[in-house]
Parts: sequence; structure tokens; C-alpha cells
Amino acid sequence: MILPIYLYGQPILREVAKDITADYPNLKELIDNLFETMYRADGIGLAAPQVGLPIRLFVIDMEPLAEDNPLYAGFKKTFINPRIVEETGEIVKMEEGCLSLPGINEDVEREEKIRIQYFDENFVLHDEVYDNFFARCIQHEYDHIEGKLFIDRISGIRKQLIKGKLTNMIKGKTRCHYKIKPAQSKN
Ligand code: NI
Repeated sequence: MILPIYLYGQPILREVAKDITADYPNLKELIDNLFETMYRADGIGLAAPQVGLPIRLFVIDMEPLAEDNPLYAGFKKTFINPRIVEETGEIVKMEEGCLSLPGINEDVEREEKIRIQYFDENFVLHDEVYDNFFARCIQHEYDHIEGKLFIDRISGIRKQLIKGKLTNMIKGKTRCHYKIKPAQSKN
């Protein structure tokens, strides 16, 4: 089932999400819905708060990037109750976008390497190290479950330049090709 994606201005995007247990209701279905919603929106990552759920869960599928770089083939993962326990390496600047901030792309600086502990969709614990674009995607989604957005990490000047777009988004004036839930919409 395709879920509406909550846009910038929705308070849930600013909440620190909570851990879940293996008996979380309809977990498998929820994960399927996250992937389906993400695919429809042409994204490569989606976090539960972006569909209105304040829980520590996000999905990533980099398969669409494999056409240009086989390195990304088959990277489809679900992260439950993740904790980034280490961020190391050089600070790298890379352009990011977000399904909750359609039409906005900005350079974001992040450390290039992470170590993350998380449970997969079968509640098997993993402790893994990622770098470069893998780390980047995980860090972006991880921010969502910490109540952060990539625009929090851009310069004051850049933020000033996108202010108009953000204001329009809060007012519900943003249009995009997927189902959205702007801040002003009624439940
Ligand atoms: Ni995002």
C-alpha cells in the first residue's frame, strides 16, 4: 500500500523516534509499504517518521543506482532500532535531497565512514561498517529518526536562499508526483 509522505512542517519529522519490539503490529506489512511508497516516489531511502510513524525504522534500496555503478546492486536493507556508534574519516560534501523536502537539493557535509548496529526485518542483530555513499544514505535516514533533516546541516546563507520554498511547503503549496501530506493538511 502506498502511504502519503509527510512534508517539511509536519511536527513528526522533528520527533526523536522510539525503538520497537519484534511484535510491533503488522511490521512486515509496514516494511513492505515503506518500500512500495519509496519506489513510487523514486527514492532510495525512506524512514518511518516520513509516513507519520514515530519509530526507529528505515529502509534503503540502492538498486536504481546500479545501472550507473554495479557497486550498488542488490543493496536492499531494512534498519530497525539502529544506533550509529561511530562516525569517522574525512568530512565529505555531497548533494542531498529528501522526499519530505521535494524540490530542494543542497550540499551537506558528513563524515565518510560509520559503524552502525541495527536489527534487520527478521530481528537479527547486525554490527556493520559503511563508507562513502552507503554511509551517506544511512546517515540521511538516521537523521530522520533523530528528528533531523538535511537542511539543518546547511549554511545559514543556503538556508536563507531556500526560505521561500520552505514557506511554500508549510503553506501546502508544494506539488510533486507522489502522494504527500503537507503540514496544513487535515487528518
Ligand atoms: Ni530524507
